[in-house]
Amino acid sequence: MGTYLITGATGGIGSAVADLLYDAGHALILLGRSGERLAETAARLTYPDPVTAPPAVEPVARPAAESRVRTVAMDLSDPRRIEASLADVDLPPLDGVVHSAGVVGLGTVAEAQPDAWIEQLLINAAAPAELTRLLLPALRAARGHVVFVNSGAGLRANPGWGAYAASKHALRALADSLRAEEPEIRVTSVYPGRTASEMQRKVRAQEGGEYDPEAYMSARTVATVIVNALMTPRDATVTDVSVRG
Ligand SMILES: NC(=O)c1ccc[n+]([C@@H]2O[C@H](COP(=O)([O-])OP(=O)(O)OC[C@H]3O[C@@H](n4cnc5c(N)ncnc54)[C@H](OP(=O)(O)O)[C@@H]3O)[C@@H](O)[C@H]2O)c1
Repeated sequence: MGTYLITGATGGIGSAVADLLYDAGHALILLGRSGERLAETAARLTYPDPVTAPPAVEPVARPAAESRVRTVAMDLSDPRRIEASLADVDLPPLDGVVHSAGVVGLGTVAEAQPDAWIEQLLINAAAPAELTRLLLPALRAARGHVVFVNSGAGLRANPGWGAYAASKHALRALADSLRAEEPEIRVTSVYPGRTASEMQRKVRAQEGGEYDPEAYMSARTVATVIVNALMTPRDATVTDVSVRG
C-alpha cells in the first residue's frame, strides 16, 4: 500500500480523493487550513460506518485505523512559510501528492484589485510549486506521482476569470516543467469543469446565480478520475485529462 499527501483535504474534491485512497487501503497525510476541519475529515474517514457515525466524532476514537491518517494544518497563502510548517513533519517516501487546495475570485481586469491577483497566484500556483519543491526528496524516494487539480480555466481564459485563469495557466506550466525535469516522477494535470463543492457555491454567488449541486459533476466523480490517473500502471503516465459534466 502507498502513502499519499493531499492538499485541500477538507474541501470537496480533496476529501473525495482521501475517501477513495483510504478505502483502497493507503496511508494518507492530509493538509488543510483548519486543524479542526482536518480532524473532522480524518475522523469521518476512519469511522467504519459513516451512516451511524455521530456528527462530531472524537478523532482519537480509533487509534489502529487512524495510524493510516495523519493531518498537517497549514495555510498556503504565504508560500514562504510552507518550509517552516513542514519542518516537524516526519515525511515517509511519497507515492503520490494531490494538490487540490485552491481559491477563486471572479472579476474583470477592470475590476480586479491587486489582492485578488496576489491571493489566487499565491495559493493556486506559487504554493503548489513550493510544496512540490519541498516534497521532491520524498517523491523521488518512491518514484512518486504528482497530480495538480487544475481547471478548464487552465486551458482557456474567459471574461471575468482573468486572475483565476492566470493562476491555473501557471499551474499547468508548473506541471509541464516538473514532468520534463523529473523523469522518475509522473505528473498529471486534471482539468475539471464545474463541480459541486463550496468553491462552486461561491462562484455561483459571485455570478449572482443559484447554486444547485445536482447541476454539476460530483466531487467523487472528479476524485475517481484523479485516483485512476494515480493507479495507472508505471509504464504509462496520464499527463493531462479534462473532465466535463
Ligand atoms: N469546484 C469546481 O467547480 C472546480 C472546477 C475546476 C477546478 N476546481 C479546482 O479543484 C480544486 C478543489 O476545489 P473544490 O471544488 O474541492 O473546492 P473547495 O471545496 O472549496 O476546497 C478548496 C480547498 O482548498 C483549501 N484552501 C483554500 N485556501 C487555502 C489556504 N489559504 N491554505 C490552505 N488550504 C486552502 C480549502 O480549505 P478550507 O477547508 O480551510 O477552506 C479546501 O480544503 C481547486 O484547486 C479548484 O480550483 C474546482
